[in-house]
Amino acid sequence: MNDQIKASDLNAAGHLQIGGVDTLELAQQFGTPLIVYDVAQIRQQIQRFRDVFQEEQVQYEVSYASKAFSSVAIYQVMNQEHAHIDVVSGGELATAQKAGFPMARVSFHGNNKSLAELEMAVEAGVGTIIVDNFHEIDLLKQVLNDHPASHVDVQIRITPGIAAHTNSYIATGQVDSKFGFDLDSGQADEALKQLLAIPAIHVTGIHAHIGSQIFDVQGFEGVAKKLVQVAADWQRQYDFTTHILNVGGGFGIKYSSEDHPIHPEDFVRAIVDMVKKSIHEQKLEMPAIWIEPGRSIVGPAGYTLYTIGSRKNIPGLLPYVSVDGGMGDNIRPALYDAKYETVLAKDPQAPIVENVRLAGKYCESGDILSDHQPLPRTQPGDILVMLDTGAYGYAMASNYNRNPRPAVVFAENGQAHLVIKRESYADLTYLDLDYQQD
Ligand code: LLP
Repeated sequence: MNDQIKASDLNAAGHLQIGGVDTLELAQQFGTPLIVYDVAQIRQQIQRFRDVFQEEQVQYEVSYASKAFSSVAIYQVMNQEHAHIDVVSGGELATAQKAGFPMARVSFHGNNKSLAELEMAVEAGVGTIIVDNFHEIDLLKQVLNDHPASHVDVQIRITPGIAAHTNSYIATGQVDSKFGFDLDSGQADEALKQLLAIPAIHVTGIHAHIGSQIFDVQGFEGVAKKLVQVAADWQRQYDFTTHILNVGGGFGIKYSSEDHPIHPEDFVRAIVDMVKKSIHEQKLEMPAIWIEPGRSIVGPAGYTLYTIGSRKNIPGLLPYVSVDGGMGDNIRPALYDAKYETVLAKDPQAPIVENVRLAGKYCESGDILSDHQPLPRTQPGDILVMLDTGAYGYAMASNYNRNPRPAVVFAENGQAHLVIKRESYADLTYLDLDYQQD
């Protein structure tokens, strides 16, 4: 019995449905591997965050960290929801532009933004640039000199010196990090001074992000407290008023029965409580609080459909059951040892009969989606659905082995919309040029 599947997730035939659409029909209509999002779940998640801020009566923004899943369609959903978005590259920015997303509600992140990317952001009228380092300040100065009519709002990213309890690859808050200005050595103060001296720049706030897939509140409380402390120091020393405290993202989700995160709302409540308490102690005006969730907005709403192909039985060992996707559409098991749960589309509650190694089709022994996957009786052609794959799956997809990347479908109110086409072999060679020697 899979505890992530509710009775309402099954249709009358007992098949798993997503957004009211039968997963077997989705597989048949669009092929596999296929990534499907339950769009209503995405909308609800944003609303759940907002409800907390509204109950707490604080100014806020929910800024979707779009590195978790960037596409024209997701930016359009974010626009419908009046959310903010974060982008981390010219490519994500161009995608948001193509989606018609209002640039005033975009924040631009990154520890090595290029001159061209900063020019693009300034010309597009991006709402906030999260300034990360001194080189970026120099580049921004140049860009603003070349665009005398422009001005930008910026937030200063600090490294809060808080180590999050998570995988070291996705922890960012510790002092030894490539992101942001260090506090203790005075770099953050120096950055503030430099930015305040540039007339075309308006410093609106302070940003920190401690990591991703975090399960408890302590780190967030720590970062909230630290940000208020910095705001208080800067008010006293430089007469600078912080209007926005941006605590980043990183709210953990439940991928498997091994994960026990608190509810996303409880992270926000803990952050708000700590900011309020610290602001009161420091006798400051209450700033707006921004959060940047990525995974918690799109992760649980995403599903990957695979078709079972070959099977290899080895006496005394777990059998290998291979599917038609793998590390090209989801690198997370290979890269982070990430665990997921997977069910049989036609009968998600079917009795489990065996444990298998769920293997991908890529030419690499490490291409194992799950090294211990409980499964009911299956045969080639059966559709499996891997749950909670909506964050950092398609976003990190590759064409390894020249496999085409999967299609992406948005399902809502019983309707399925193709939002990213499946790559074709022609797409795969689209950029290739001939090399013929005379
Ligand atoms: N804000 C900043 C500044 C970030 O660097 C990140 C994620 C987020 C927000 C969103 O974090 P989230 O709410 O999604 O946890 N590829 C890895 C995750 C990398 C996260 C990078 N930064 C994975 O698949 O787990």
